[in-house]
Amino acid sequence: MTTAGEIDELERHFVAAPGTFTTSPLYRALCPVVAQDRSTLELLTGRRPGQQASYLFFGAVHYLLLGGVRHPLREFYPSLVGASAADPAEAGPVLRDFCRRYRAELGQLVRTRLVQTNVVRRAVALRYALWVVGQRCPGPVHLVEVGSSAGVHLYVDRYRYLLGDQVFGPADARVTLDSRWLGRAPLPDLDDVPEIASRTGVDLNPVDVTDERERRWLRALVWPENQDAATLLDTALDGVLAEPPDVVAGDAVEVCPELGRRLPAGEPRVVFHAATRMHVPAARRAAFDRAIDSIGAGGPLYHVWQEPPSAPHRGHGADPRAELAMHGPDVDQVVPLLRVDGHLRWLGPLDITP
Ligand SMILES: C[S@@+](CC[C@H](N)C(=O)[O-])C[C@H]1O[C@@H](n2cnc3c(N)ncnc32)[C@H](O)[C@@H]1O
Repeated sequence: MTTAGEIDELERHFVAAPGTFTTSPLYRALCPVVAQDRSTLELLTGRRPGQQASYLFFGAVHYLLLGGVRHPLREFYPSLVGASAADPAEAGPVLRDFCRRYRAELGQLVRTRLVQTNVVRRAVALRYALWVVGQRCPGPVHLVEVGSSAGVHLYVDRYRYLLGDQVFGPADARVTLDSRWLGRAPLPDLDDVPEIASRTGVDLNPVDVTDERERRWLRALVWPENQDAATLLDTALDGVLAEPPDVVAGDAVEVCPELGRRLPAGEPRVVFHAATRMHVPAARRAAFDRAIDSIGAGGPLYHVWQEPPSAPHRGHGADPRAELAMHGPDVDQVVPLLRVDGHLRWLGPLDITP
């Protein structure tokens, strides 16, 4: 049963949410509209535990529009009408009408879907972390991504990276990732990373990229203004389609201990998660952390994460500036690595002001 407390919490979430939609004027304009729309907030109380409400809701609306629903709301979406998109400031009443008309469809999506946004550029963060790991452990490593969605980061070694005026990765790569490096000194040599001995994803719902609806859901989770991210996603998903990675279905809490036992004993493993722990219900996070730690029982574990600073790990207070951080087998404390934009449009050392 819905409680008034849940609705109040969702209202506060949407009041605060514009701050997270840094590159989406449309979503920034619509967050306060949703915050005031009690019937939509009620709909969102039916989402699966832990799921971030604004990402899920806007994903559901976008999914229906991308699927061909004819409604005037589409005129506000650059992903649908390009540069001629209407002024976001006018979109509020149109969204309210959309939510009334498509309540059943939205409710179905909100109850069943997960926030699975696969942000290809986050491979830049993983690539940097692999360089750090390589400085301590030169040999091949087993790569595990927890919350891998479609698994695009598992091919971190196959992509090309344009970071400021530095270039890394194979020249003939299918996917090229560009991010701004904000450091004064150049980046280290990100070609000097350990070989990947095996690659495995873990996800509550591994994405079947052969299924048009699942691919559309991933596309819908990309904010409507971010056409560059959508194009990158499409190219990276084609790579996943050509060579499907091994993604184990299930909750990391249950899957990780067995996965750790399956990896060759004594060999180093890198476990990465990005924007995943934040969707784990608060009461399950300690179990999530323990499950990742368990992968270290069979060999040296380098645990790397890109999560909002609001997600400290293993009780260690992380540096609030470091969205990219890790801990390793030889230090039992959080090692802050970099300041990064959530979508890796930029990265830099901890002392920069973006
Ligand atoms: C927001 S997406 C991020 C995907 C990818 N890490 C990225 O950064 O592009 C979070 C993913 O974590 C998965 N997930 C959430 N909780 C999980 C859990 N307890 N165990 C396994 N996967 C989980 C979701 O299904 C989803 O695919």
